[in-house]
This record gives sequence, C-alpha cells and structure tokens, in this order.
Amino acid sequence: MEAHKQLTIGLFGFGTVGEGLYKILQQTPSLKASIRKVCIKHPGKKREAPAELFTTDRDVLLNDENINVIVEVIDDANAAFEIVSKALKNGKAVVSASKKMIAEHLPEILKLQQETDQPFLCEAAACASIPVIRNLEEYYDNDLLHSIRAIVNGSTNFILTKMFEDKLDFQSALLLAQQLGFAESNPKLDVEGYDAVNKWSILLNHAYGIVEHPDHILFSGIQNIQLSDALVAREKHLDIKLVAQAKKLNNGEVAAYVLPQFVKHDDPLSFVKNEYNGVVIESGFADKQFFYGKGAGSFPTASAVLSDIAALRYHYRYEY
Ligand code: HSE
Repeated sequence: MEAHKQLTIGLFGFGTVGEGLYKILQQTPSLKASIRKVCIKHPGKKREAPAELFTTDRDVLLNDENINVIVEVIDDANAAFEIVSKALKNGKAVVSASKKMIAEHLPEILKLQQETDQPFLCEAAACASIPVIRNLEEYYDNDLLHSIRAIVNGSTNFILTKMFEDKLDFQSALLLAQQLGFAESNPKLDVEGYDAVNKWSILLNHAYGIVEHPDHILFSGIQNIQLSDALVAREKHLDIKLVAQAKKLNNGEVAAYVLPQFVKHDDPLSFVKNEYNGVVIESGFADKQFFYGKGAGSFPTASAVLSDIAALRYHYRYEY
C-alpha cells in the first residue's frame, strides 16, 4: 500500500467495536482513512450513521475496487473466515478483531497471507487496547522469551473483581459485564474460558511462532468460582484471577494453559481490576515487564483496530 494513498475501508460489523471505530475515525482526519461502506446483518436496527452507508451484501464491499482495506469485527467465526479469505484473495489488506475465527483458522490465514502477499493484522484480537501483539512480534527475541503470564479476558476479570470488591454474586456481576458491552454475545465464551484460550492461541503464535489450535491448549474458565471462594481467598490476602500462562521449558518446548489461579497481592496481575487486562513478560536481559490497559469495551477495542489501520500506512505486517 502506498504511504500517501487514502485508506478506503469496507467495514464488516457495526456492533460495539464497529460503531466505536466509526466514531473514532471521525476524530482522526490526519490518518486519511474513511469508511466507504458497512456490511451489517440486521438492516432494521437504528444506527447513528447515514443509512446509505449500510448494506447487507458482502460482495458490495469485497468487489469494490475503491476499497483497499477490509476491517472485519463480526462475531460469527465462519462468516468472518469467508470474508477474510475473499478479501485477501481480492487483493485487499485485512484488519480483524475476530479472535475465535483467527485462533481456529490460524494455519489457513498464514497460508493465505503468503499466497496473496496481503497484510493481515489483528491487534484488537487479544487484550484490546494493549499493543501486545505488535510488541511480541517486534521487541522480543524468541530464544530469550522465558515466559508470559496474562489476564486476557476483560469480562471474567470484571466479574471476579466485582465478587471480590463489592461482594456481588456471579450472575449480577455477569449481567453488569453484559450491560457495559464487555461480554461476548454468548457470555458462555467468556465465563467458560473459550475467549481467553482463543486469545492465548493467537498470542502464542506471535510470541513463539507456535500454531496451536485452542482445542489443544488446557483451559478452564471461572464457572465454578463462588462468592464464598472469593471471600475465603481474600481472607488469605489472595486474589483469584483467570491467568493465561506460557513458559519455555528446558527442552525448548512451550507449556501453555489458561486456568483460574490464586494470585498474591504483590503480583502485578493482582493490580489488574475490572475489564482491564495485563501481561507480564519475562525475557533474558530485559527481565520482567508489565503491560496494562483496557481489555474490552467499544473504544479500547476500536483503538487497537485503528492502530492496525495506521500500521498499514507503513506497510507493517507480521512475520510468518
Ligand atoms: N468478551 C471479551 C472480553 C471482549 O471480555 O475480554 C474483548 O475481547
């Protein structure tokens, strides 16, 4: 993509993230990026954007030669994969936030990138506002990356925080997470750990070059944690967090999992509250680093999408 070229975006999805991106783009004129068309599933809904911007026909976007960037933020993983494949094949750069789709189709996406020579960026697919994918890609030497421990799901962290700090029961905390737009449309994906393990599979790829289907990573969610567990842990000066972990073993292999854990109060992850995410990276010579920021919600997630759109300007792409 030529640096001076206008970025003309075809946007798939106008939910929490898509609408957030639409609003942010109105405040970033120097980016020279504009949305030409938005593809949606339900045309009847009231939306804060001109009606002529919307279509329900995917091909209007995918076959439009003026559109050079497809941004895809829908939550139907199968449809998302079809859109991404066709967009790359049609010579368009792709920015995606669909963690489930990316985690489940990683080998095909890597192959498509090679075959089409088009960039595919997905900073918003893990830890929303935290630029963790780009940092893992660019900053760390694979050999020196000893371990990563992270909170990668905002909703479960929000629920646990509300149980710990406000003594809210599980269901009320979940309802609040849904109302605030943090939870997936099927909140079981958050609560039972599916969303976290999908994100972990993506981060393992960018950290270590591993291609691991989420089904092959050990994980559990927070579905069995009761308010009484939170209160008992608190008495012992511990938090309970849903922690994703990856550790380089002596034989060079990486052990990875996502499980609820007790976290001591001096652990940086204990500092991560509500919908925030946090990532602790230990690497040779750099030692320990801690990344922290909002991990869910409309603007924090859309800001990561925006950062990918901006990165297309300098021809950024992942190594594969
Ligand atoms: N449901 C997700 C979460 C949204 O709570 O982290 C951001 O990916």
